Amino acid sequence: MTFDEKIKMLNDYAIAWYSTSQADYIHEAIFRAQGFGKFADLCKEEGDEELEEARKCTERVIALGGKPVFGCCEQPVFCEIKDLLKSWDDEFRDQQAVEELEKIAASLADDSITRKLVESFVECESEHKTWVAKHLGLIERIGYDNYLIEQLGE
Ligand SMILES: [Fe+2]
Repeated sequence: MTFDEKIKMLNDYAIAWYSTSQADYIHEAIFRAQGFGKFADLCKEEGDEELEEARKCTERVIALGGKPVFGCCEQPVFCEIKDLLKSWDDEFRDQQAVEELEKIAASLADDSITRKLVESFVECESEHKTWVAKHLGLIERIGYDNYLIEQLGE
């Protein structure tokens, strides 16, 4: 990976994660207002993690001597938990998000700091992918109404 490619990759991920974290906080507020506090907490956790990932990308761009860029990726907003879960699941499958990060990590053999950073993103996004699959499996097993009862909370 050339220097310019690396800076672009980091800037692109920063923009994506600043944007997805904003969407996570919107979903936190929507689902908390609906009474689904437990699910809202998960959205908040995801938002915090993705904001942290974005900040680390920006920091790395600067440490490498690159120029951070401002941007935003339009994100869908859902008012139904199952629609959000489905959208995340589709994204992980269609965009191969985790596999793509693994490929990038493998192409950073000459830059161990950036490689370790990307590897930490692989770990974080794998966890996200796993919990989404688990929740969709739960809905399948117990039905959406029962699942929603499980998500009630302050
Ligand atoms: Fe994520």
